[in-house]
Amino acid sequence: MTPLWSNLQSLLYLACAVTFVVGLHLMNSPRTARRGNAISATGMSAAVVIAFVAVTLDGFTLTAAPLVLVIAVAVGSAIGLIAGRRVAMTAMPQLVSSFNMVGGGAAALIGVDEALRANGTTAISVGATTGLGILIGSLTVAGSFVAAGKLQGFLSGNPVRLPGHRALELSAIGFAIVGAIWLALHTGDVIPLVIVVAASLAAGVLIVLPIGGADMPVVISLLNACTGTAVAMTGLALGNPIMIIAGALVGAAGAILSVLMGKAMNRSIIAIVVGGFGGATDQPAGKGTSSAAVRQTTADDVAIQLAYAHRVVVVPGYGLAAARAQHELADLGALLTSRGVDVSYAIHPVAGRMPGQMNVLLAEANVPYSELKDMDESNPIFAQTDVALVVGANDVTNPAARRAGNPVSGMPILDVDKATSVIVLKRSMGRGYAGIDNELYAEPRTSMLFGDAKESLQQLLSAIKVLVA
Ligand code: TAP
Repeated sequence: MTPLWSNLQSLLYLACAVTFVVGLHLMNSPRTARRGNAISATGMSAAVVIAFVAVTLDGFTLTAAPLVLVIAVAVGSAIGLIAGRRVAMTAMPQLVSSFNMVGGGAAALIGVDEALRANGTTAISVGATTGLGILIGSLTVAGSFVAAGKLQGFLSGNPVRLPGHRALELSAIGFAIVGAIWLALHTGDVIPLVIVVAASLAAGVLIVLPIGGADMPVVISLLNACTGTAVAMTGLALGNPIMIIAGALVGAAGAILSVLMGKAMNRSIIAIVVGGFGGATDQPAGKGTSSAAVRQTTADDVAIQLAYAHRVVVVPGYGLAAARAQHELADLGALLTSRGVDVSYAIHPVAGRMPGQMNVLLAEANVPYSELKDMDESNPIFAQTDVALVVGANDVTNPAARRAGNPVSGMPILDVDKATSVIVLKRSMGRGYAGIDNELYAEPRTSMLFGDAKESLQQLLSAIKVLVA
């Protein structure tokens, strides 16, 4: 490769990296997020083309390398395109976990290849970053696989603890670190390579297995940060600027999100890494239904409460996304607002199944952004609220979080139980993601309107229109 091409390649990579930063910036707002995604995706595609040209120009003979690259890009793009088009909004966290798995795996494999090529003259800095890339990448593969399994339901979503779990987990982490240090000092040796890969895979499984209940969002975001860090480490080992920049951006974004979500959930990140939490329970957790006695209501009764309320706070949750009822909810909000009712939407940071899911859904239905309130803004106003309308939300409203001993303990919740009346729209007494009963449903101020959220909202819209006609 000529120095001119090498410099040009670095410059082009830098331009691609700029598109990632611009794209991330545009993702600050739902209005510009689509454009941001498109700009970053264009930059990433350009980076792949540059890598292809570099491989081809680098002593060009029609060897297997360019062919493998073409096939890999074709297969990867096809899978990405199909997954992006077909996967339901509600299955997005599993998809993110699978992407984390693929990203971490790719970084680890490149690191393994780099380690196997080492010839005894590898600088310790290169050995160290190679070892770290393999460690973090392998841990991410295994951890993301378990997380995706829990979210998809082919592994138990409940905390799973093996006999002597903590000791096994700490040993796996210890072996992985020792293996990585050994590899940094003797980069070409196969024994430390095997140790670091095997111990990191085991550590990934053991760290994520005991995490369940409401804590999975923090784990997914942490694994996302690990994917980026693994890619950046491998990029450092290879001296590849685009991998370093893209990996650092993903690592930093994931780390910031993990800290913010940890704060929102009142969880310590360290506690996740060294032992998992959310396992303690004072009631058997799992799918299924609660048998608590509750008060049922009808669409006509709820319509009267809503139409004559001064203030209504809507609490959307996963069920809203599952029912795809955002447009009906937006219509209901607009109808009430047109009658002079003060309507706002209380957004819990982990409502739904991915960060910002409720904001995206409501923005898609053109709910005015000014009506979306975060948890800190919403909680003080519940006491002056006539009706808290809970649409497909469950765990994020469970008062059990205020006491110790269950999977949602310590998680800040939306204080809907302080409103004069609480109306819950859901299909049955089915539990939420954490798999425990919601004590809110049995409280005297709460009434349940059972049914699919979309249908219930349509009934409410019709009933209010008849009422005020
Ligand atoms: P959940 O606690 O999961 O409860 C959702 C409720 O929606 C269920 O109880 C279900 O009850 C109801 N539902 C489902 N389909 C419905 C439909 N078609 N119509 C009406 N209701 C329907 O939801 P949440 O309150 O939003 O809490 C989110 C949970 O997911 C938290 O535990 C959180 O930690 C976890 N989590 C969050 C994320 C992120 S990043 N947001 C990622 C992974 C996990 P029925 O079956 O009785 O209808």
